[in-house]
Amino acid sequence: MRLWKLLLSACVTLLILKCCCSATDEVVTCSGIVPMVNRNDKISITDFGGVGDGRTLNTKAFNEAIYRIKHLRRRGGTLLYIPEGVYLTQSFNLTSRMTLYLAKGAVIKATQNTAEWPLIAPLPSYGRGRERPGGRYMSFIHGEQLHDVIITGENGTIDGQGGVWWEMWRRRTLQFTRPNLIEFKDSRNIIISNVIFKNSPFWNIHPVYCNNVVIRHVTILAPPSSPNTDGIDPDSSSHVCIEDSHISTGDDLVAVKSGWDQYGINYGRPSTDITIRRIVGSSPFAGIAVGSETSGGVYNILAEHITLKHMGIGIHLKTNTGRGGTISNITISNVYMSNVRKGIKIAADVGDHPDENYNPKALPVLNHVRITNVRGKRVQQAGLITGLKNSPFTDICLSNINLHGSSHQSNGNVPWKCSYVSGGSIQVKPSPCSDLIHSGSCPI
Ligand SMILES: *[C@@H]1O[C@H](CO)[C@@H](O)[C@H](O)[C@H]1NC(C)=O
Ligand SMILES: *[C@@H]1O[C@H](CO)[C@@H](O)[C@H](O)[C@H]1NC(C)=O
Ligand SMILES: *[C@@H]1O[C@H](CO)[C@@H](O)[C@H](O)[C@H]1NC(C)=O
Repeated sequence: MRLWKLLLSACVTLLILKCCCSATDEVVTCSGIVPMVNRNDKISITDFGGVGDGRTLNTKAFNEAIYRIKHLRRRGGTLLYIPEGVYLTQSFNLTSRMTLYLAKGAVIKATQNTAEWPLIAPLPSYGRGRERPGGRYMSFIHGEQLHDVIITGENGTIDGQGGVWWEMWRRRTLQFTRPNLIEFKDSRNIIISNVIFKNSPFWNIHPVYCNNVVIRHVTILAPPSSPNTDGIDPDSSSHVCIEDSHISTGDDLVAVKSGWDQYGINYGRPSTDITIRRIVGSSPFAGIAVGSETSGGVYNILAEHITLKHMGIGIHLKTNTGRGGTISNITISNVYMSNVRKGIKIAADVGDHPDENYNPKALPVLNHVRITNVRGKRVQQAGLITGLKNSPFTDICLSNINLHGSSHQSNGNVPWKCSYVSGGSIQVKPSPCSDLIHSGSCPI
């Protein structure tokens, strides 16, 4: 009898749980591609002499803690706990099977001593540093050929103190390419969540030649005037999930890339299967971008539920002659933007070349783009799509787009401008350029 009752109550509990949970289960997410791992083995940076006073240099503590994780190889990996406090350090390398856990109030802060910053080789798909020839400064937090790495916690901060680097850029005294805040190279099964990234010297989060990367519930902040502080740049990487984040920086919020001109063409590694969802932010440059480095190709990109305020360009697909590469199957939907210079720009006239040896005959190919459900207020120019005469953009479909100009002129913004483009549109206001004015081959 008692067993009966127990079983019955268990069943009822399960039923209730199932009903209640199904509502929250409906939130669409791609984060399942890398499961979160709990680690039983835990160490603290303070066990290795770490001091969170904001002045002591903790490079040795970080290196020793990570050396221990790498060499003791505990079953299930190890969590490195960073307690509340400000931990100043030079750049350091992560290792596989580790969690870097930033507690509430924990700050990992980069030194401003740029002279001692280590240099590493340029990426083969770029042939040189992105902004200066030769090598490049190692990212502040770096990972190469790793797997199963998690950076998470209670919204602690990784602070690049980028001001000194931005000043060197402005004065043109940079010797090599500025460091990213975080770079993972040739790595897989990476999670970055519940962390705040602040004042990166250059790009913030750069997964390059990676597979299975989840970045969610992050906040990325840098002043609008800070040069090249892109938020998240998946580069020649596949299966990347970017969700539920706030990004406000001085350059593109998310930019999908795949190498630069002849180096990227030779390396031939595309970016594919990337989801960008529920992102909020602002920047003088683009919200959702592909490019401008796309020489290895960019395929199967889905961006949806994006909210942009005070933007240069809402959606920007950008490439160049000499770049080669195919950009294809890009779906962007449910975008809201306000105070924007250009709503949608797709162009092949963007970005510089690594050197004089690029092949001007290597034309980019761009096709199969779907942009739907876009709303905008105070948009100066709704759209600008300029393909190449010898490589027109094809199958560009726009639907249900409404990009208003300033309040006193209803839809009185600068008209769409296009050239060398085919595709079609359905319910686009203001009316798009004549090349796209009919529904064409686009699905209704
Ligand atoms: C960190 O990794 C880079 C790239 O693999 C390497 O050049 C450098 O020597 C490493 N630094 C340390 C302290 O292990
Ligand atoms: C951390 O910030 C995210 C927003 O990016 C929020 O969803 C989450 O609840 C915060 N977590 C904690 C532990 O404060
Ligand atoms: C196009 O990309 C979407 C993701 O946005 C993917 O689901 C779909 O399979 C891709 N189509 C092709 C033909 O690869």
